[in-house]
Amino acid sequence: MKPARILFVCLGNICRSPLAEGILRQQAGETRREVTVDSAGTGGWHLGNAPDPRSIAVAERHGIDIGQQRCRRVEQTDFERFDLIFGMDHGNVEQLRLLAPPPAQTRIHLFLDYALGTALDVPDPYYSGVDGFETVYTMLSDGCSSLIGRLDERFS
Ligand code: 4NP
Repeated sequence: MKPARILFVCLGNICRSPLAEGILRQQAGETRREVTVDSAGTGGWHLGNAPDPRSIAVAERHGIDIGQQRCRRVEQTDFERFDLIFGMDHGNVEQLRLLAPPPAQTRIHLFLDYALGTALDVPDPYYSGVDGFETVYTMLSDGCSSLIGRLDERFS
């Protein structure tokens, strides 16, 4: 079984993509699907920081520890190192398309479009309350379990 190399990308790399990284790592462990998973942001406001405390808290409520992750920005080498690069929303995908060289364009997808076949954004919860983070958690968790099924089809 080939390990799929997956990069989740959002704007700040402190709310959505670190959560996605933690959820996929946990679900992959439970299903014995080998993955390399990482996350990054297109913006550089929080470089080196831990995830937002609200993302750490929602992950913790679901038994996942994301506290050791550190914020980083998308780099050019990411476009060679990862098989699938998922933007959380349409804006992230647009930014990724501007940054990526031509051969990597086909690796870039809107996450829920690839995972669930619904071209929905995972909304930015930065200015929302706890409910926003729970909603994001549910969307990411549903997306990740469906994604693992797709990986079994493609990386076997
Ligand atoms: P994320 O959320 O893209 O899900 O990490 C955000 C976090 C921080 C900012 C924007 C979005 N910010 O503008 O600092």
